[in-house]
Amino acid sequence: MFRAVAKTLFVSSVYRGVLFGLRHYCKNIPLKLRVSEALSGAELGANVKVQGWVRSVRSQKKNVFLHVNDGSSLQSLQIVAGAELDNPLLTFGSAVEVTGVLKKSPHPKQPVELEAEQIHVVGKCNPVDFPFKIKERHSLEYIRQFPHLRCRTNVFSSLLRVRSQATTAIHSYFKDNGFVQIHTPVITSNDCEGAGELFRVEPSGPAFVDDTNFFSVPAFLTVSGQLHLEVMSGSFSRVYTFGPTFRAENSQTRRHLAEFFMVEAEISFTQSLEDLTKVMEDMFRSATEHVLAHCAEDVDLFHKRVTPGHRDTVDAMLKKKFPVVTYSEAIDILNRSSENFAFPTDWGCDLMTEHEKYVVKHCGNLPVFVTEYPYDLKPFYARDNQDHPKHTVAAVDLLVPGVGELCGGSLREERLDLLQDRLQDAGLADTYSWYLDLRRFGSVPHGGFGLGFERYLQCILGVDNIKDVIPFPRFSHSCLL
Ligand code: 4AD
Repeated sequence: MFRAVAKTLFVSSVYRGVLFGLRHYCKNIPLKLRVSEALSGAELGANVKVQGWVRSVRSQKKNVFLHVNDGSSLQSLQIVAGAELDNPLLTFGSAVEVTGVLKKSPHPKQPVELEAEQIHVVGKCNPVDFPFKIKERHSLEYIRQFPHLRCRTNVFSSLLRVRSQATTAIHSYFKDNGFVQIHTPVITSNDCEGAGELFRVEPSGPAFVDDTNFFSVPAFLTVSGQLHLEVMSGSFSRVYTFGPTFRAENSQTRRHLAEFFMVEAEISFTQSLEDLTKVMEDMFRSATEHVLAHCAEDVDLFHKRVTPGHRDTVDAMLKKKFPVVTYSEAIDILNRSSENFAFPTDWGCDLMTEHEKYVVKHCGNLPVFVTEYPYDLKPFYARDNQDHPKHTVAAVDLLVPGVGELCGGSLREERLDLLQDRLQDAGLADTYSWYLDLRRFGSVPHGGFGLGFERYLQCILGVDNIKDVIPFPRFSHSCLL
């Protein structure tokens, strides 16, 4: 009995001793924090370690001041160190690991600062060779020349954080509204738009020299996941996809890329185009409000420094309902204007960028839905309005300020006989026999749309060139990295 009690006491005192030691030991191990966590002020007084890249260095007689950023926020953390920790390797762009104590900063601009006890230069950076210079505000055009380094600038890291939040916001919108996400294929044997702007996929390498027909049929990089979503909308009433999309357009405009991201939705049991415009408008608002709330500083950087005044445009877009005009009304608007357009504005002509921009301005510089397009302008799947003499289809484009077309969509032709005739006229009935099957078995009125994700970012940030809103732009004659 005595021995058992003694043993228990001994074990528990050892246990308490270990706990005490562990607590003491942990106090001396610096807490690893991201810059955004350090800036939150929650760990004031703690011994911490922060890792990141130097965004500014200021050496004084008694102290050296650094700003360190790790991509977790636009704001950098100020490091204050005694002159004895100064080091010629502490340069703009170098990577560092700093340990010290988080203190309340005496400067009103930053809530906290890190009083450094140790600074370790993890990776040096020669400031003469580094293409970005301390204190210089480089233009978007300039930093675009360095796709491998531009994420180290404030402006491009802000863009990447906004892009990430916008992606989350779009997924959340669809999840909250009962859409099922479908991973539509990147490699496909169909040409959804029928526009012939396809990249062909062929294997390469010695094993395939004599046999390049890997899939036994011609295969392409997808131009749209629509037809695959339509397959799924025979069983799910709301589906969406969000992924890379490819168009071999030989253009180098400010709104075209060869590889871009498209958000596409397909909705079954639709009554009218309004079922689609409602989703487009709701998604636009919900994603934009989310981005403004979660990336306020990053968005501000664009609205204040890159595109002054754009915030008012964004606020107006969020406040007011998007106007709707038919294609025929848009043509009337263009023909009544005193503008000298470079491209024709007759009924039946495609709306070019200059036309889209004019219509948007005319409608109060707000996003505008243009509906009921000429039958001959839209692909085979657009639903025939069977009207006369102006023959139209139930298609809709969303045009937005500064960009032009942001979304394209339509009700789909669900009537087997009409679709069959149209495919036969186009000589596509055999290729799309599986698509006709979708109309044979439980066909319902349905429709959908696609939104160009990069154009969406251009629209909310006011960025003029699409190459500045994607991490690695691909366009004709350019595929860097
Ligand atoms: O209007 P589009 O061609 O529509 C479709 O592909 C439909 N099949 C979508 C659907 O109904 N599911 O393309 C949709 C959007 C355009 O409005 C535009 O914003 C963007 O995709 N887009 C491009 N963005 C960047 N570079 C390009 N080359 C683009 N082509 C289209």
